[in-house]
Amino acid sequence: MCIFYLVAFLFGLTAEQCSSELIEDSSQSFMERMHTGKTSFIYFGNHVNPTIKLFMEQLEMSADALEDYGISVVKVNCSKDAIENYCTGEKLMTKAHLFRGSEVLRSFDIDTVFDVNAIVSHVLFSVLFNEVHYVHTPAELLRVERAAKQNSDIVVGHIPVLGLPEHRALMEAAFVYGTKYQFVQTTGSLVLKHMGVAESSSSQARLWFLHCKGVSSQSDPCPSVPMRKPLKTINIHTFLQLMEAPLVTEAEVDPSEVDVVHIHLSVPVLFLFSHAQTQHLDRATAQTLSLQLRGEVGVVLISRESPNVKTPLKYNAAYRLPQEDVKYLTLNSAEEVMKLFKEELLQEHKIEDEEGDEEQWSDLDILDDEVSESVYRDRDHMPDLESVTELTSDTFQTTVTQNDITVVLFYFKWDAVCKAFIQSYIEVADALEGVSGVELAAVDCGELTDICSDQNITSFPTIMIYRPMVAAQPYRGMLGTKSLHTFILLSLVFSPSHLSSSAEVTSFLEGDLYSKHVDLSAVRVLGLFSSLQDTGVTSFEEAARLLRGETILGLFANKEAEQWVEGLSVNLPALLVSRGPGVPYEVYSIPSSSPTDQVSLIKRVELDHFPELTVENLPWYLELGKPLLLLFIGKEDSTESTKSLAEIKRPLSSGQLDSFLPCWIHLGRTPVGRSVLEKYLGFVPPLPALVISKLRTGGEVFLFPPERPLMAKNILQWIHDVENGQEQPAGLIPDGKWGPPVPFFDFLAIMDQEAPTYAAQKGPKMKNGGREGNRQQRPNQKQTPHPSPNPQAPRQHSEL
Ligand SMILES: *[C@@H]1O[C@H](CO)[C@@H](O)[C@H](O)[C@H]1NC(C)=O
Ligand SMILES: *[C@@H]1O[C@H](CO)[C@@H](O)[C@H](O)[C@H]1NC(C)=O
Repeated sequence: MCIFYLVAFLFGLTAEQCSSELIEDSSQSFMERMHTGKTSFIYFGNHVNPTIKLFMEQLEMSADALEDYGISVVKVNCSKDAIENYCTGEKLMTKAHLFRGSEVLRSFDIDTVFDVNAIVSHVLFSVLFNEVHYVHTPAELLRVERAAKQNSDIVVGHIPVLGLPEHRALMEAAFVYGTKYQFVQTTGSLVLKHMGVAESSSSQARLWFLHCKGVSSQSDPCPSVPMRKPLKTINIHTFLQLMEAPLVTEAEVDPSEVDVVHIHLSVPVLFLFSHAQTQHLDRATAQTLSLQLRGEVGVVLISRESPNVKTPLKYNAAYRLPQEDVKYLTLNSAEEVMKLFKEELLQEHKIEDEEGDEEQWSDLDILDDEVSESVYRDRDHMPDLESVTELTSDTFQTTVTQNDITVVLFYFKWDAVCKAFIQSYIEVADALEGVSGVELAAVDCGELTDICSDQNITSFPTIMIYRPMVAAQPYRGMLGTKSLHTFILLSLVFSPSHLSSSAEVTSFLEGDLYSKHVDLSAVRVLGLFSSLQDTGVTSFEEAARLLRGETILGLFANKEAEQWVEGLSVNLPALLVSRGPGVPYEVYSIPSSSPTDQVSLIKRVELDHFPELTVENLPWYLELGKPLLLLFIGKEDSTESTKSLAEIKRPLSSGQLDSFLPCWIHLGRTPVGRSVLEKYLGFVPPLPALVISKLRTGGEVFLFPPERPLMAKNILQWIHDVENGQEQPAGLIPDGKWGPPVPFFDFLAIMDQEAPTYAAQKGPKMKNGGREGNRQQRPNQKQTPHPSPNPQAPRQHSEL
């Protein structure tokens, strides 16, 4: 085992002194690794040439270094274990990948990660993506400063060439001190100029400490202190300690007895003396000098009033160099002190301003390409938020209470998912312009940490819906333009809509009421109660509130409600579901249950009997636990597709397909369906294609013979044959151990991540756990690790 990194750091050891081995993965251990969720840096190799041999040596060394950060370094020998997708293609051997679980965080050309320093710096840089801000203009730096004021201090590193030891040192420091300071990395010369460094010396790595924590006014700059020593791990550590030390230490003993941190850090100390009469002036002088010498020299002010101070009065200053004795001086001015230190005592170790170590930079030209490749992230600028209101601590409360609905996006500028989503969010804002009562706003949680923690925002991006006087509602839908747009429009519908007569009920169910919302959701769900005093009414109202934006709900609490269930096997209270004009209503009884149980029931009864599967709705259908009778139809809406859909629909009403969930996927609208089909069968058959798949059970997949006409009669015959074992499976659903090489292919994983959860009054923290408490196993359904809505809801169902 290696010593914990921090220890290594504190003692200035390099981590290579530990010995940890490069792990070699078989396909089995690789699969297992994909499931751990841990971070690994993996090289997929084949035969070894001299270049690869060198790389392997460096990789071996980086295994030691990266182990301290909990990152495994792994190689896979493709000639022994051919791992799908990674052991093929012409890029094999020239790429290494950084994984978190089964997700590839980044891939690197092995030219970029050419040695142990480059591997460690690039890997940490990627892992710290959210922690280390990447800035390339002074304006961006100022924005980081603004956010940091009163909160934390900033460490800015200028790294002209990525992957060199300086970069590694900065990243290692960011890993260790990242929670304490805000780290910023910059490569361009713009920020350098802003920090007051001549462009001619831009090839030198540099570091600054910005004291922002103590700055309370936004108009004041954060005092900045340059580190004057070369950017090495030990120097950064010392420098950060010095930045934490008080500007001036006051003492009441002789200089030789003063003990300050600077002495332990081998930093010179300047001693000044103060008298009772000139105390204020002496303090001011000490402060001024200390500010000028900050990071290089410690300043101690010794009170002459103390009987312990025996320094002869003829001296008014003293200094102590590391490992030397105190030297006493008589100086006439502060300038003289500065001159002494700057021109004589501090000359060694300073950063050479003009001439760098030429040899070190001779690789510069060769590296240029990798550098531009590595700074890829500064290419993606944040889109302009324009139509979205950016909230601040001052405007947050007033904004979220002044509209019917305020939609707030909590984002983190440096998060890739947020970045990707913001464009969609702006599109939604544009589409909603002119809709009254709605405002779209955003909070940058990188800057406004207080608001985000007050609102209990723990994952990014999070969207919350605020209404005056009501607890905020998290948006649980997909992060896409259409889903969010629909959700917001539906949120404007008051829910539940209180209906007062049977005529109003008809108008509600037929979609005349809220007719402009028919395109958004054709389904209407009505709660029928005999009176407002019924026990279930409050739960139903609460459920309706939780489902705002998703389902249009009505409430009819009236003696007349009885008429709507007359002659049916269902008593009040009941749910009436309408799927649009002309479609027979369905009715279900409502057990006395909690609001969240009612949410599950409503979500379940809303389900279509022959649904088009989408990423969004799949979890709800899979929950039914039935094998899928799934029709894949192509991008174009051909007559053939329409005909096939109709043919499957025909036996539906007769109940002959009851043991299946008949459904379809439109590959144009749900492109991931193509990958699913390919995974099932190993190829994409001619479309439309009908398959039976026991999706959840790791079972077989059957393909309706493409040469047979897709007609109801043939379909039923085929189903019969499949059930009797007379059909050969066309493929297998990968079992539970199957680890998808790229998460995109894991349809179920994608679906599950998107599966919404409902819990009364809970913030977004509840994302995947809201329902676990009352989960039960259904007799005909295998226990799966997927979250599921409460299955206790009644199965009673009769159609009108
Ligand atoms: C993979 O294994 C083969 C045969 O055992 C060996 O010759 C080759 O060097 C190995 N490749 C790597 C990258 O370790
Ligand atoms: C955040 O969580 C705390 C503790 O659970 C709770 O008291 C507070 O009301 C929550 N704030 C919001 C805005 O939901």
